[in-house]
Amino acid sequence: MSEFEKKIIELKERIINCENLSELNKISSEIFSKNGIINTEFKKLGSLSTDERKNFAASINSSKKELSELFAKKSNDVLDKEIIERVNKEKIDVTLPEKEFKIGKVHPVSQVIDEISCIFSEIGFSVEEGPDVENEYNNFTALNTPENHPAKDMHDTFYLDQEMKTLLRTHTSPVQVRTMLKGKPPFKIIAPGRTYRSDSDQTHTPMFHQLEGLHIDKDINMGHLKGCLNYFIKEFFEVEKIKMRFRPSHFPFTEPSAEVDIGYRIENNKIIIGEGDKWLEILGCGMVHPNVLKNCKVDPNKFQGFAFGIGIDRLAMLKYGINDLRSFFECDYRWLNHYGFDPLDVPTNYRGLSR
Ligand code: DAH
Repeated sequence: MSEFEKKIIELKERIINCENLSELNKISSEIFSKNGIINTEFKKLGSLSTDERKNFAASINSSKKELSELFAKKSNDVLDKEIIERVNKEKIDVTLPEKEFKIGKVHPVSQVIDEISCIFSEIGFSVEEGPDVENEYNNFTALNTPENHPAKDMHDTFYLDQEMKTLLRTHTSPVQVRTMLKGKPPFKIIAPGRTYRSDSDQTHTPMFHQLEGLHIDKDINMGHLKGCLNYFIKEFFEVEKIKMRFRPSHFPFTEPSAEVDIGYRIENNKIIIGEGDKWLEILGCGMVHPNVLKNCKVDPNKFQGFAFGIGIDRLAMLKYGINDLRSFFECDYRWLNHYGFDPLDVPTNYRGLSR
């Protein structure tokens, strides 16, 4: 056996027994580098006769091929093993604080939704949700809206198809329909969410937020509605007393219907809610129309109740002194930093809503 053949056997054994990448790289350079054993052996070709050269070159090439294959397989195995070992060893504690980080702020609309949910949960309302993309039936027909009602017009409603069958909901009232159709009375829910109308100026944006309320049970009357809204407004504005009035109004889905105004006055350029001789409209409400109950498979001879719809953005503007509705949706980080809320300061009834 030649020296070269002996060396090849030794190298094969070293490759087979090698367990780490750096050792493997060292062996690789001993074999394949410019001064490695393969090249050194090839250099001997020049001193051989033509016949000898043929066999000699063939044997070097076959050893080279054998070593390359062995080497490729081994380095794959070693690499796999090292990766598995590293993954097992390296642990990342995702609960550790960042070295430097900025706290994000909660948007006033999200804050107000949390506050309102908190207030209503205290008197037994649960929170429901519905989709932004609604069908015409839930948004209008089931809610007793006549065929020729102006709200159904293309100018007011964003329809999503030519047949005017799907649309972006124009109010949160379709969640009433969804809730009643999927359950059995009594119902006592609020439903906050995004709503859409084709409208844009300082006090209107094409997307805005509403909160729907619905309480259906036996013997619910307008007195319950008044008591409920009075409680809500006092809690929301964090005041002891509130001046409030019900004005007769019209909605297709309620009978009778009312709009609710709260009293306010301006003092040193600031709005004081709950007192004073000025009035501000903040919500629509009424006793749910028997046709709506029928459309939702609720027997109007056994059950009745009230519903209300509140503009959330408006309430947020009033409570937190923000005067342009459009700024809510501009995603300006400086604005959010100023008007936003601490994410850890979650509103609760016992600790206070906004303090
Ligand atoms: N859906 C009405 C609107 O968008 C608001 C509303 C009024 C909701 C009266 C109600 C209600 O549930 O009873 O203008």
